[in-house]
Amino acid sequence: MIKSKMKKAGFIFDLDGVIVDTAKYHYLAWKNLANELGIEFTEADNEKFKGVSRKRCLELLLEMGNITVSKEQFDRWLEEKNEDYLKYISKMDKKEILPDVTKVLDYIKDKGIPMALGSASKNAVSILEKVALMSYFDAIVDGTQVTKAKPDPEVFLIAAKKIGAEPENCVVFEDALAGIEAANIAGMESIGIGDVKILSDADHGFNNFTEIDVKFLDDLILLLESKN
Ligand code: G6P
Ligand code: MG
Repeated sequence: MIKSKMKKAGFIFDLDGVIVDTAKYHYLAWKNLANELGIEFTEADNEKFKGVSRKRCLELLLEMGNITVSKEQFDRWLEEKNEDYLKYISKMDKKEILPDVTKVLDYIKDKGIPMALGSASKNAVSILEKVALMSYFDAIVDGTQVTKAKPDPEVFLIAAKKIGAEPENCVVFEDALAGIEAANIAGMESIGIGDVKILSDADHGFNNFTEIDVKFLDDLILLLESKN
């Protein structure tokens, strides 16, 4: 391949459930609120909440319980869920980085390929600081910057722009169905991290980062750089 025809690749990572295991804390906090409201909330229900904004999650929960509320009550429950979640994540540190994530981030950083975070969470920066991963990212796009939630591709398109890569030259690592859909709509390569049956729409699937080897990453980079 002629080097000059190659495009600049970009790596985009979701946060919750991809880089750190905060998906379990979101689940616990929603389950606590659901219990309080007399709504049964299972891990299967929680799949639909992954990658989805806090506000949309509460709308989904209230739909499950057939509950309609005033704007004030809605905002109070939003706040309550977030305070509960913040308690769970308050003691987070590097130990909560999922296995081999740092190995992959180091490899991509060493190659000089730009990396961005693409998350729906408004707590993303605070979590990255807790686990000391801020310095890896050339751009951060989080729930404070997007207007349309995944599966809308907005978050990933902004991320690609910020790192100066075209969407088709980017790859997205995601644990949520909505996130895989968003990456696919954006025309990006999608990598599902988690249950491969649930994330079957992804271009590639892995249970976790320990299954991702250097050969896969090298082939992926080559593929991204050759697309135009
Ligand atoms: C991520 C998680 C979702 C969560 C959303 C908002 O995308 O996967 O489950 O609802 O962020 O998070 P926040 O921290 O702003 O409540
Ligand atoms: Mg996620």
